Amino acid sequence: MGNSQWQQYFDQKAATHGASVKSSDYFDDDSFFVQRDHILQWIGPLAGKRILDAGCGVGAFSEPWTRANTVVGVDFSEKSLEFAAARGLQTLSADLTALPFESGSFDLVVCIGVIQLIENYQPVLAELARVTKRGGMLLVQTLHRGSLQRKLLGLVERSKKFDRMYEMAELRDEFDRLGFGEASFLKQYHPFKTVASSDSFGGPADWFCTSFAIRGIKRGE
Ligand SMILES: C[S@@+](CC[C@H](N)C(=O)[O-])C[C@H]1O[C@@H](n2cnc3c(N)ncnc32)[C@H](O)[C@@H]1O
Repeated sequence: MGNSQWQQYFDQKAATHGASVKSSDYFDDDSFFVQRDHILQWIGPLAGKRILDAGCGVGAFSEPWTRANTVVGVDFSEKSLEFAAARGLQTLSADLTALPFESGSFDLVVCIGVIQLIENYQPVLAELARVTKRGGMLLVQTLHRGSLQRKLLGLVERSKKFDRMYEMAELRDEFDRLGFGEASFLKQYHPFKTVASSDSFGGPADWFCTSFAIRGIKRGE
């Protein structure tokens, strides 16, 4: 699907499901909050930071950070943003390929479950990289192309719901090209509620990794 179709799709979801994570297409609360809490723990406690939640949907991912930080949520689904604002995010409707922020505006930029919807992900990552401060962190979470479960599902699924999946190497190389070092991964193995963090990838365990997050630190400080 193209951008305008995704925008309508998520507006419609938010009109139906309201503040629930079902508006952001998660199967249920449990699967969402388990993966969210793993990522929050992986990052560690944050206070006094300026955080961008890029493609924030209804704001459920970054809500815990709003108590001690400034969290800006950007999304092109205005209906979703109504619920993100109620959760304490400062919301802004924009496309992730053209963010209305100065370069180096954020200590942390997260983009959770978004780039699988975007066929040409490089302009989006370039924007996220631009608005991250030197010494700041960029974290992107998405679907793992090498997953056996997803390959099997692909054989039985009639409709192609997601536009794209990713190899860890592909995003590690893109992070490096955009000036981010110290790359590390958080690997998720749905339906198991387990994760593994690692600064490398490859090997049989990765065949069962359904989604992953990559984080890196912007060089230059
Ligand atoms: C699967 S939802 C994930 C929402 C949220 N990050 C979460 O994990 O709960 C994907 C979100 O990305 C937004 N999105 C997708 N492409 C976008 C783009 N190019 N610009 C702005 N928002 C976009 C959609 O509107 C939707 O709210």
